[in-house]
Amino acid sequence: MMRVFKVLFAIAAILSTTFAWHVCQDEPFCKELRSRSTSKFTVDYDSFQENCFSGTLVNSINNQNYDLNITFHHDDVVRIRIRESNAEIKPIPSALLDDLVVGKVFCSVDCDSISIVGGNHQAFVNFTDFSITTTNLITNDVIHVNGARDMFVGDSLALKVTFENMQNAYGIPEHGDNLKLKDTKNDEPYRHYNLDYGYYQTESRESLYGSVPVLYAHGVRPEGESHVSGVFWHNPAQTFVDIDHSNNSITVDFISQAGTLDLFILPGGDFKSAVSNYVKLTGTAPLPPLFAMGYHQSRYSYLTQEDVLRVAKGLQDGEFPLDVMWLDIDYTDGKRYFTWDYNAFPDPIAMQYELSQRNLRLVTIIDPHIKAENGYFVYDQMRENGYYVMNPDGTIYQGSCWPGLSSYVDFFNPDALNWWSSLYGYSTYANTTAIVHIWNDMNEPSVFDVEEKTMAWDILHYGNIQHKEVHNMYGHMQTKGTYQGLVNREEGHQRPFLLTRSHFAGTQRYAAIWTGDNIATWEHLRVSIPICLSEALAGISFCGADVGGFIERPSDELFQRWYQLGAWYPFMRAHSNNEQDYREPFLYPEEIQGRFRTALRQRYAHLPYWYTTWYEHQRYGQPVMRPLVYNYPNDENVNAIDTEFMIGDNILIAPVLYEGANELDVYLPEEDIWFYLSNKEQNEFRVISSSHVRSVDMDSVPVFYRGGSIIPRKDIVRGSTQLMQEDPYNLYIFAKNNNASGTLYEDDTVSFSYQSNEYNYLSLTFDGIKMESKAIDTFSSYNGHFSIGSVFIYFDEMPSVFYAQAVLTSDGSTTKYPVLQFENMLQIDFNTVIEDRNFDFVLKYLSVN
Ligand SMILES: *[C@@H]1O[C@H](CO)[C@@H](O)[C@H](O)[C@H]1NC(C)=O
Ligand SMILES: *[C@@H]1O[C@H](CO)[C@@H](O)[C@H](O)[C@H]1NC(C)=O
Ligand SMILES: *[C@@H]1O[C@H](CO)[C@@H](O)[C@H](O)[C@H]1NC(C)=O
Ligand SMILES: *[C@@H]1O[C@H](CO)[C@@H](O)[C@H](O)[C@H]1NC(C)=O
Ligand SMILES: *[C@@H]1O[C@H](CO)[C@@H](O)[C@H](O)[C@H]1NC(C)=O
Repeated sequence: MMRVFKVLFAIAAILSTTFAWHVCQDEPFCKELRSRSTSKFTVDYDSFQENCFSGTLVNSINNQNYDLNITFHHDDVVRIRIRESNAEIKPIPSALLDDLVVGKVFCSVDCDSISIVGGNHQAFVNFTDFSITTTNLITNDVIHVNGARDMFVGDSLALKVTFENMQNAYGIPEHGDNLKLKDTKNDEPYRHYNLDYGYYQTESRESLYGSVPVLYAHGVRPEGESHVSGVFWHNPAQTFVDIDHSNNSITVDFISQAGTLDLFILPGGDFKSAVSNYVKLTGTAPLPPLFAMGYHQSRYSYLTQEDVLRVAKGLQDGEFPLDVMWLDIDYTDGKRYFTWDYNAFPDPIAMQYELSQRNLRLVTIIDPHIKAENGYFVYDQMRENGYYVMNPDGTIYQGSCWPGLSSYVDFFNPDALNWWSSLYGYSTYANTTAIVHIWNDMNEPSVFDVEEKTMAWDILHYGNIQHKEVHNMYGHMQTKGTYQGLVNREEGHQRPFLLTRSHFAGTQRYAAIWTGDNIATWEHLRVSIPICLSEALAGISFCGADVGGFIERPSDELFQRWYQLGAWYPFMRAHSNNEQDYREPFLYPEEIQGRFRTALRQRYAHLPYWYTTWYEHQRYGQPVMRPLVYNYPNDENVNAIDTEFMIGDNILIAPVLYEGANELDVYLPEEDIWFYLSNKEQNEFRVISSSHVRSVDMDSVPVFYRGGSIIPRKDIVRGSTQLMQEDPYNLYIFAKNNNASGTLYEDDTVSFSYQSNEYNYLSLTFDGIKMESKAIDTFSSYNGHFSIGSVFIYFDEMPSVFYAQAVLTSDGSTTKYPVLQFENMLQIDFNTVIEDRNFDFVLKYLSVN
């Protein structure tokens, strides 16, 4: 959370001017490199003879040599690395997965160029002006890496990449701005510099808490077919990103304060393959435990043990589904992490026991700043072992944060990282149990009372790494250690949940993120969608914004709309700062409580769909939350839409985002037909096949199901995800031309056993009269309780026959069930336990002549 400002409202505008958040002009390296254009590089022809993909570049002004390496990965991803030949090699960690597959290449060296072919791609290096052109040999997509410009000035570096025939750019989170990136030619570039920037602006290219330097260019060819490619700038230093839409191309200019040049060209084709190429480099989120998809209740802070239990009870008594209670900094003994304030929390174990009796989990906060106080065990161990971040002279760095004078753990030191992991063990983190999961905050890192509220550039890490070289990765490294600590704590038997504020490329492997210290305004409600969508394209699907806004108090109307939207964030947490009165759902008048409850129940009813989508994310790398342009790249109407979004392939959410709205303009991609989920009549759907303006009231949460899909749900909503585990699945079939298909994933929801094939992943297909469930992986199996409740079949055109029976074939026997026929829907109430997940049912009709 941000520091507390007492006079909140009046100074909001002044803050943005008094806090000088830097723009390009304020950073000499950016000012300098942004205007450079001429090249001083040539390629040393001889150096390429030995090995066609690595050689030497020569800077003709100072005769400095640079090593150039071009490699292909996973066949089609082109990696370009350039490093000063005699530069000191520092142990800067990589954001990449360890096991990048190096692809085979075929080269031919000419007197003034090289051609390297890997997979379906060619990289062509022109020796004269040092430019690299990659061509997709199938689609003919062309991307230029422009070396005709000074790439290195002092420690800093820049490079331009041009995507030909592209019109739209996406990605490079985290910014409080629209999904579709803006042209910065005559404006400020987007900035990547992780900062504790509370009260952040919307419609802004200023940096926020996290940085993921991956950008996608999207275009539609004259023939109408779309194409997408990407670029990943693997550099954790402060970076400015310019975007230029001239010449029917997207030109992106990365300008970094430090580091080596390490660029990946992500050939796509469609959006899915471009994102999948990125995810092959940096990984996907491991499957979260099911409870993490439930509702999280937080506040800065629940101050006592009683307070925590009172709120949990209040929610459960009020029949609001709930999975996790949160503890912000005040639970600690004087902001000493890994300790408890035993006056306020006299018996943490008893508290955790009661929470677990309620089927709840607890998340506690652990920040990277360590109170500088002899006798505090974490500080003592850090100091004695030299696990701290250092001043330039090697002494222990001190800055101010929540506990007052603090030192910071050096997560770049591998021994320090192991030690950090070990602190989460039950013997060091006293009075915690397996229901405790973790929140790493303030890890940009936040340092109070200094310029831009973070560490100075010359601060030193392990291996002589200067802070400026790795700034955007500090929080990422903390989450790496924390995640490992939580895995180790239960000897690898429990999936951890971890939330972080600062993040970088690859953080999805360890943690979920949220959008930080947002404000209770309609602008912040709206901007939460493009922030999370951009993160999702950048590999980080597990994203949400504080429901209600962290700063200030939302109006009742805004708060209700936020629950309705938040129910569709991948991560749903209500949180507020300590200036606010309590605002838990059960404190509101009954009518409003009803809407909070409905929103939460809608989320819980869809847990089987969420869980399946998360499984597919970790398996295939596709985002969980998606912009419409991801699923419908050929539809020119959706390029800029960030007021609607999709969860997986099949559910489209068009939330109400404006105060006093009684109408909503909904765009539904025309390639598909859509079924509208009415909130009032739980099982009432109507076909909506085009864009339209619909009237809305406070109960409206416009959610649409794609025709052709099968959505698994659990409609008996109980107090927590755990209580719903053995409930029957209801299958909602939305037939398009009599056809529909979907998937269903199940496992024990908490352990890593799914990695040893203890799961079922089912393909569900419907052809108009038969629905079939088949295991996709025949080698896997999970033997938990499994039952089918009701199946609802909606048709775009109701068949003209009267179905009387459904004959279920399962576990070696057949059973007949009556079919209930409604205006546009058939319903079959199976309510039966099924052992073998391969089963089917067939509709039998009576002819009506
Ligand atoms: C290029 O590759 C060579 C050989 O694999 C390696 O020794 C060198 O460090 C690499 N240079 C860069 C800049 O990655
Ligand atoms: C290489 O670049 C130079 C300078 O831009 C250009 O004149 C030449 O045609 C290029 N060579 C090839 C083979 O494209
Ligand atoms: C667009 O084309 C013009 C004329 O060739 C050129 O001067 C300009 O640099 C190009 N812009 C970009 C962003 O490449
Ligand atoms: C755990 O909490 C109890 C109070 O409930 C306290 O007496 C005890 O010292 C704590 N254990 C440790 C190892 O700090
Ligand atoms: C329905 O699906 C089947 C395969 O499940 C396919 O063969 C058939 O062409 C589809 N029919 C329509 C109308 O899409």
